[in-house]
Amino acid sequence: MEPIVFLNGRFMPEPESRIPILTHGMQYGTGVFEGIRAYHVPVTSEILLFRALDHFERMARNVKFLNMTLPMSPEKLVAVAAELVRANGFESDVYVRPIVYKSATRVGVTLPPEESFAMLAVPMGAYLDTHKGLHCGVSSWRRIADNSIPCRGKICGAYVNSALAAQEARDRGFDEAIFLNEAGRVAEGSAMNLFMVRDGRLITPDVTQGILEGITRDTVMTLARDGLDVPTEQRGLDRAELYIADEVFLCGTAAQVAPVTKIDGRSVADGRPGPLTLELQNRYEEVVRGRTSQYRHWLEPVYGYVRTGHAGVV
Ligand SMILES: Cc1ncc(COP(=O)(O)O)c(C=O)c1O
Repeated sequence: MEPIVFLNGRFMPEPESRIPILTHGMQYGTGVFEGIRAYHVPVTSEILLFRALDHFERMARNVKFLNMTLPMSPEKLVAVAAELVRANGFESDVYVRPIVYKSATRVGVTLPPEESFAMLAVPMGAYLDTHKGLHCGVSSWRRIADNSIPCRGKICGAYVNSALAAQEARDRGFDEAIFLNEAGRVAEGSAMNLFMVRDGRLITPDVTQGILEGITRDTVMTLARDGLDVPTEQRGLDRAELYIADEVFLCGTAAQVAPVTKIDGRSVADGRPGPLTLELQNRYEEVVRGRTSQYRHWLEPVYGYVRTGHAGVV
């Protein structure tokens, strides 16, 4: 079966969704995107969109950076995402990618008024290894500054910065990059936020350090606070603190919760995933797969079983 995509208000087979090569968003990176996971629950064949409304609400805010608007409300976009997953008949974990982009076909960088909206979905398993512990390298590329391109904006063109860092990390034999910002403080991974544990405290760069205001970051802070009574300190983080941390992990929609056990060739603590990281990873998995009722409001069942109380899910 051909993949089904959503483009400018209608579902269509993917081969029909061609866009002109002179499209502004393609030439200049003038688009804003999101990444949303949906988790397959084999026992009921249900698929659960995770925090989809939060993703579309963030997107609705971020499009303002490029003077754009979304074609419909975040609530309606959640329904489109669910319809898209159903239309593709997935039986696995899924990644949903909505994108709004400048669709004028002309040369010239000023922001044109024409916009298009598309959404596609692909099966997605693990993006990073979440078990063995990652070896990360501090990137020689700096995180792009807010007054260059707002990196809290998930703006297409800004991901050249992420691509350079991620590729450099792989080329140097690391699993993933850690960005410092222009001030030399720790920012985040190429497409994931970063947490550190020191003396039982969870610490993460605050939102002015050149980070995406991550939804997984918020999920982790919520799970730590509500379930484990561990508050999170949001502050500037020195690079050297990473080397002496008790635990470090990356988190994001694609990456989920991924322990970091080595940074720049130095072991993080004893070089094994830390207990708080593993506890949060475990709780995250329970929540996204609908095995706990506490965060049911974060899950949008694509086939509707959670809402109708189908046995076996939450
Ligand atoms: C640069 C960057 N940082 C962090 C994240 C994590 O954000 P979220 O948890 O909202 O997916 C992402 C997206 O996945 C990202 O692209």
